[in-house]
Amino acid sequence: MAGEMSTIRTVGVVGAGQMGNGIAHVCALAGYDVLLNDADATRIDAAIEIVRKNMARQVHREIIKQADMDAALKRIKAAPKLGAFEAVDLVIESVVEQDDAKKKVFADLRTTLKPTAILASNTSSISITRLAATTDRPDKFIGVHFMNPAPVMELVEIIRGLATSQETYDTSLAFIDSLGKKIANAEDFPAFIVNRVLVPMINEAVYTLYEGVGSVEAIDKAMKLGAHHPMGPLELADFIGLDTCLSIMQVLYEGLADSKYRPCPLLVKYVEAGWLGRKTERGFYDYRTDPPTPTR
Ligand SMILES: NC(=O)c1ccc[n+]([C@@H]2O[C@H](COP(=O)([O-])OP(=O)(O)OC[C@H]3O[C@@H](n4cnc5c(N)ncnc54)[C@H](O)[C@@H]3O)[C@@H](O)[C@H]2O)c1
Repeated sequence: MAGEMSTIRTVGVVGAGQMGNGIAHVCALAGYDVLLNDADATRIDAAIEIVRKNMARQVHREIIKQADMDAALKRIKAAPKLGAFEAVDLVIESVVEQDDAKKKVFADLRTTLKPTAILASNTSSISITRLAATTDRPDKFIGVHFMNPAPVMELVEIIRGLATSQETYDTSLAFIDSLGKKIANAEDFPAFIVNRVLVPMINEAVYTLYEGVGSVEAIDKAMKLGAHHPMGPLELADFIGLDTCLSIMQVLYEGLADSKYRPCPLLVKYVEAGWLGRKTERGFYDYRTDPPTPTR
């Protein structure tokens, strides 16, 4: 059950992809007004439709009541222009995992946001300190790393940048608690905790495929039945998005300057082909067939 609401009332979510829709979902269910933005306006409507479907599933499974769903959906408003963010108390940025895209969002928000608003990034790996330094409020900048899918996963990692104030941290902690999520504090180093451990494991699985140690099916089967992972690593890579996995490996490789983090050339090839996993219907599996077919 969610905790007391924090001093935050209105949340602006930038990026209406798979994470943005999940974050909008959990914030609205916890009673926050949500403005949802994306550079591609069609993604916003699509995201609200996904939230509707996912909440309907929660009603069906008796996790939430129909009245909760109806009230939550009314709280989510499409905001195709960031100019609508004047009243937001907290921004959660969840655009693609690229420095420049994220910095552009923060620059675009500069003239709109009220001085007290907190800026949070849902980045999986990028330095919070570096992103914060490009904004007009490094003391009000923090990392809040939701897991995928946000409505289901219990954890949010909280990452303080070098300049993040105690007040920003306390408010963010109360906010995440009010969503009913558990918190793990991570220091601001490349990929934080979860992805520092998880994504090199996925990259190693791609190397295992690249070197012919096993097929897609054998690798996933081996890790599901042999290590009790709920999903195989290649299946999980498709779920996360291969572009996101590659960006995280690049952040680790460059940020830690250690060759053990070099991205597998096969992962690079899939991303260059635009085979990004489930979101593009093709990755290590082809999702246009039922059941999905391995692509190698
Ligand atoms: N996929 C995961 O499992 C996962 C988990 C935790 C955190 N994250 C992080 O969440 C963020 C988003 O990832 P995702 O999986 O939702 O990606 P996604 O590709 O599903 O969505 C990204 C969205 O950002 C939009 N966008 C790009 N530039 C923009 C801009 N300048 N302004 C507004 N919108 C813009 C795109 O149109 C797209 O809709 C990334 O930082 C990623 O690392 C991802």
